[in-house]
Amino acid sequence: MSEYILAQQNGRNIPSEDTIFAVSGRANAMIEKVGKDKVCNATVGTLLDDQGNLIVLSSVDKVFHELSPAEYAAYAPIGGTPGFRKAVIQTALRDYQPKGIVKAVASPGGTGSIRLAVGNYTERGDKILVADWHWGPYGKIAGELGRGTATFRLFDKDGHFNTEDFKATLESLLKEQNSLLLILNTPAQNPTGYRMSDDEWAQVISVIKAQPKDKKIALLVDTAYIDFAGDENEVRSFLPFLEDVPDNVKTMLAYSLSKTFTLYGLRCGALIGFSKTEEEAEEFVRVCEYSARASWSNSPKVGQSIIERIFADPELLKKVTAEREELRNMLLERGHAFEEEAKKVGLPMMPFDGGFFAVIPCENPAALGREIEKEGIFIIPFGDGLRVSLAAIPMDQCRMIPAKVKAVMDAQR
Ligand SMILES: Cc1ncc(COP(=O)(O)O)c(C=O)c1O
Repeated sequence: MSEYILAQQNGRNIPSEDTIFAVSGRANAMIEKVGKDKVCNATVGTLLDDQGNLIVLSSVDKVFHELSPAEYAAYAPIGGTPGFRKAVIQTALRDYQPKGIVKAVASPGGTGSIRLAVGNYTERGDKILVADWHWGPYGKIAGELGRGTATFRLFDKDGHFNTEDFKATLESLLKEQNSLLLILNTPAQNPTGYRMSDDEWAQVISVIKAQPKDKKIALLVDTAYIDFAGDENEVRSFLPFLEDVPDNVKTMLAYSLSKTFTLYGLRCGALIGFSKTEEEAEEFVRVCEYSARASWSNSPKVGQSIIERIFADPELLKKVTAEREELRNMLLERGHAFEEEAKKVGLPMMPFDGGFFAVIPCENPAALGREIEKEGIFIIPFGDGLRVSLAAIPMDQCRMIPAKVKAVMDAQR
């Protein structure tokens, strides 16, 4: 019997409170009471300046304000405007020249693109494969669409990609189902900040290649934080692997403009598919546009128009890229400072390379998190650890948090 009054549960477990919003709610309540300068709110998933204000790229903001009504208020075509579809491939791939055919379908943010991939490259009842450390909405999207999730252990004991567990889990799933979608979130993974190395990529691809050719396998790389991971071309070194797969494998990028162009609330993203033939490419576009029509219809035009304008003007593109580089350097410096302090005081961290977040592994994260809140520090219990949003806190707090957390951890032992 469902515990729901009139709604249908449909296999989903819908909690009454979202953990992230609950912790950030308590942070805001404390800020009201004791003032902003006494509280460290490391919960927010957007890039904030040292005063805690949302950062919007000023070059992007300027374009936004110059848009004509038709550029922001009109319906966009279901799969996105032609200019956006071309530009989003350029921004996603940068200098990489693909061998095959690459197509993009617009989506409301990266989230929408993940939904398109799950809806079209898995069967109902399938389990999608994700790492144990993963962004919660993967499971929610799967559940909403009548799919489930299976996890593999992301790290081995040395903090490298756990190819052995990945292979075993993938192979056992493929014994039970004929199709499989694997989601890898790299570089600058949420929550850990980890980036898969090219050697690790080679291992993943070789495991996928070794699977029976009558199974349909899809590999979705969630690149939500790619432009905050390091040099924008260097961090794309994995792209050739996506074109080195057999015919039974579909590779895709879930690309989000939320962080890269600070368009968070404008809901702008795209699912980008690599295809070997025109037929496969046409199918990719057709099925994704159908799903878009059946879920959100068209995606907002405003972000698409901004991206079109930026890519039509090389000088403007240079400006936006330079501005983002500055922000990225600020964020990477915060990450290095946090790492340095953690090392100094002996606070453990999950493998971290860059990006918005870092994780302190611990036992009983919910209880430890509540203890740390007493110090005015708000961080999110996430899996078997606490996730710190480096994007949301200034340098002095990045330097201060590790020692404080370590002290609370030690006092609890
Ligand atoms: C891992 C990951 N993937 C995808 C997204 C999608 O972001 P959006 O839908 O806001 O573009 C996010 C945003 O928080 C994320 O953390």
